[in-house]
Amino acid sequence: MQIRPLGSGHSADSLLVLLREEDCKNLTPFDGELAGILSVLISRRDFTGKKDSLLRVPMVEGCLYVVGLGKTEKCSLSVIREALVQGLRKIGTSRGKIADVIVSHLAEYDGLSFVLGEAGGLCGYSFDSYKTKGKDYEPFSLTEIYSDVYGDEVSAGMKFADAQVFSRETANEPGCSVCPATMAEKAQALAEEYGLACDIWDEKRLSAERMGALLAVGSGSKNPPRLIHLTYKPEGTPSKKVAIVGKGITFDSGGLNIKPDNFMLTMKGDKTGACNVLGIMKGIAELKPGVEVHGFMTCAENMPSGSAFRPDDIITARNGKTIEINNTDAEGRLVLADALSVASELEPDVIIDMATLTGACVVALGKYRAGLFANDDGLAGKILASSSREGEPLWRMPLDDEHIAESMKSPFADLVNSGNRYGGAIYAALFLKEFVADGIKWAHLDIAGVDFCDKEYGVYAKGATSFGVRTCLDYLMKC
Ligand code: BES
Ligand code: MN
Ligand code: ZN
Repeated sequence: MQIRPLGSGHSADSLLVLLREEDCKNLTPFDGELAGILSVLISRRDFTGKKDSLLRVPMVEGCLYVVGLGKTEKCSLSVIREALVQGLRKIGTSRGKIADVIVSHLAEYDGLSFVLGEAGGLCGYSFDSYKTKGKDYEPFSLTEIYSDVYGDEVSAGMKFADAQVFSRETANEPGCSVCPATMAEKAQALAEEYGLACDIWDEKRLSAERMGALLAVGSGSKNPPRLIHLTYKPEGTPSKKVAIVGKGITFDSGGLNIKPDNFMLTMKGDKTGACNVLGIMKGIAELKPGVEVHGFMTCAENMPSGSAFRPDDIITARNGKTIEINNTDAEGRLVLADALSVASELEPDVIIDMATLTGACVVALGKYRAGLFANDDGLAGKILASSSREGEPLWRMPLDDEHIAESMKSPFADLVNSGNRYGGAIYAALFLKEFVADGIKWAHLDIAGVDFCDKEYGVYAKGATSFGVRTCLDYLMKC
């Protein structure tokens, strides 16, 4: 996608205008011709600026698209971002190639150029690489955007979007095409392209490194597990050292505690945390902030078989803690446990993990808001601020529940891997906490549910959303 400042010398086939309800009552900011057309549309009551309303008006030359932003007091950059994506997506799926975008009446919203860049980068993505491209196939056609607000931040916004799209491309791939070794190949390729360091532990190395929890989860699959470590180092002294850890279960069948049919569908998406790490590392390599970033992808396929780990097994994790397995479907916390230990050994200032961890989190918060757990209020505040800037809603959940912590004790080992079904997201977070070294600020994002959508909404296309990539990038850019 090319985004340029609006000027003369090009001929657009589409015109996109975003209007708040109040803008519909005062058209003076718009030029004569446009104000004329808009006032006709508004007087015919076709359009009142209601949020999410979209009007498409064919004109002599090209097509006018108007998207409503709703009431002024509720309008924000997040609302504008979603409206831009909605409008641009509609243009690109209706054969529009070149769009003029009118947003200068919204210049009071600081960061408009950045959001325009994000919208330009996000609007065209859909997962269609497996569709046979027959004669009815209409590819997304929009390639050029000309905007009447244009600043330097457009390019940073596009990089945020590209990072999220890059994560989605892998997250959407089915289990038959992506296994842990594929994840490692993708990380290696990214590292080569951008000059990042990349260290990959295969099953032999994992066993030499005593990664008992990750190995147990991977033991039922013919596709062996991998721990992938990507490193970005800034020029000069880093402002901070941050580790990002992503759950990379390339398919979660549940293992011997096999999932019932409906629950197994979409479990190709159980690698989204790791895909997000891949996307974040790409974004960081392009944006080059002053912070040192370590990306860990902890990858395994959770399958039932004669070699699978079993309920009742007792395993020893990297940090020496023993874990009694009472449910092989609570595998995410196991692969994360070992990765959090390795990340802790680097003594970073901050660890953030992202994981499609619990169905309980989806029950608690729904499919449009992720759970945030943090052992530090300052860190939680920063991540919440990033999430609200990026329009990826989070809700802070408790980490101080002593009753649930008590239920983690096993009669035969140090811990059991799953507990009562009530408070399941909290249990999982408390379990992870056992593997984060003391003194490290840590946040855990439970992105189960938000990782995948059956129909498009907001800036997300059908399928993997890669929710969390932009929030994390925003956080890292401000470290
Ligand atoms: N990957 C699932 C969680 C999940 C559920 C992700 C729905 C996305 C959408 C995870 O590994 C899992 O199976 N969790 C179990 C834990 C339970 C056995 C303690 C769950 O939530 O049911
Ligand atoms: Mn599971
Ligand atoms: Zn899982």
